[in-house]
Amino acid sequence: MLDFGGQYSQLIARRVRECGVFSELLPHHVPLEEIKRRKPRGLILSGGPASVYSEDAPRLRPELLELGIPVLGICYGMQAMVLSLGGRVEAAEVGEFGRSRLTVIEPGCLLAGLPAEQACWMSHRDTVFQPPPGFTALASSSESPVAAIEDVQRGLYGIQFHPEVVHTPHGTEILTTFLGGACGCDLDWSPASVIDEQIADIRARVGDGRVVCGLSGGVDSSVAALLVHRAIGDQLTCVFVDHGLMRKGEGDQVIAAFRDHFKVPLVAVDAEERFLARLAGITEPEAKRKVIGAEFIRVFEEEAAKLGDPKFLVQGTLYSDVIESGGGTGAATIKSHHNVGGLPEDLRFDLVEPLRGLFKDEVRQVGSELGLPDRLVWRQPFPGPGLGIRIVGGEITKERLDILRDADWVLMDEIKAAGLYRNLWQSFCVLPADVRTVGVQGDERSYGHVIVVRAVTSDDAMTADWARLPYDLIEKISSRMINEIPAVNRVVLDVTSKPPGTIEWE
Ligand code: XMP
Repeated sequence: MLDFGGQYSQLIARRVRECGVFSELLPHHVPLEEIKRRKPRGLILSGGPASVYSEDAPRLRPELLELGIPVLGICYGMQAMVLSLGGRVEAAEVGEFGRSRLTVIEPGCLLAGLPAEQACWMSHRDTVFQPPPGFTALASSSESPVAAIEDVQRGLYGIQFHPEVVHTPHGTEILTTFLGGACGCDLDWSPASVIDEQIADIRARVGDGRVVCGLSGGVDSSVAALLVHRAIGDQLTCVFVDHGLMRKGEGDQVIAAFRDHFKVPLVAVDAEERFLARLAGITEPEAKRKVIGAEFIRVFEEEAAKLGDPKFLVQGTLYSDVIESGGGTGAATIKSHHNVGGLPEDLRFDLVEPLRGLFKDEVRQVGSELGLPDRLVWRQPFPGPGLGIRIVGGEITKERLDILRDADWVLMDEIKAAGLYRNLWQSFCVLPADVRTVGVQGDERSYGHVIVVRAVTSDDAMTADWARLPYDLIEKISSRMINEIPAVNRVVLDVTSKPPGTIEWE
């Protein structure tokens, strides 16, 4: 897939994989040689925000349509194809955004077997009015006289609507027709097929070298560690640094799963005292992150030295990270990641990154396939600096951490009991450090801590909405926290989305 900057590009790449075909997403300007080297069976041109007529619009190189493989243009991709082959694209008087109706004029190959009328999702202002010579117009919509085209002889296809979103109910069938029919793919790829491939790769790369992995308990590092362990067994040692900012029972769970169940050599470092001593007196959020990050690296390096300085380091880098830092093709960085609580890039290790080709949901599938327990496979994201960035506006102390851990435990218990854990991107508590409020408990005045409950839904943490938890559940969470944690006498709910808020408070 070539990315012209569309907001759904990653989603198209994932959908193609869900159809059973391995896909890679590359920037639209990637050198032709890079594309040929991959020997693709077909090419998809994504949508994009530009008008094909604007001066700085990304151009479609005509050679891409002459590679001898089928090409499907989606939205901008179709318009760029039409323009480059002599069709007519114009700015329409009104744009077409959101749900629309597609009327099939002539099903051709691409729309064969689909209903004559169907819903589809549009997001465009420029519109194709005339397909290029040799193409058949297959469908129209109220604002698009030409909404789907094909030239079967040349293997060129285009659709104005977005087949990858759920609001185009027949979208997956259209993608499947392109992939299985036009491209002749077998539709049998699955994330699990990465397992054998990666095991062979890791063995070849590492030989009899020693490998270390920083295990955090999150799904990415867990799956990466298991895969590497499958490949090279006890040449791998995992290091789990407990910085004292974990949630209740979290360290024990990781140790039980890896050391006891999977028999992976695991060094668990209890570094709580070190971290708390370093954090004493620090209240500013960025300063906290820096101290936690730097101390983490120090502890990790000490442990690696004790292991005889292994040559290789396992990292749970995902395909979305690879795409966002330029698709591995040296293109411009779109987003830099905050990696506090992780390891910096200039460490003196060779990296082993077995998940580099997988999206998050695919990593979960691989984790299940490798036998990782559900509670680790489906764990909500947890930041590297842990509870350290959830004690806000004051110093991090053991006492405050314990209050926050107890509150977090109650929240998670209730969220899980209500069956909502997987529906939420994250649910957690925040403790405003230096805030006390007056209450009345057992006929006596109390002066206690406030717990903030934060629960959000999100797809990728870039944006998030506050979760509409049922009132009865909120009531239960609140009364349990106040009854079970003596230091707490008030519970409040955070109703801020992102933007304008961030998910974490610091
Ligand atoms: P924000 O608060 O920026 O968070 O909306 C977005 C996502 O990133 C997580 N997060 C972090 N993860 N190290 C991490 O590994 C960090 O320093 C860090 N800060 C925030 C956060 O939990 C959310 O999922």
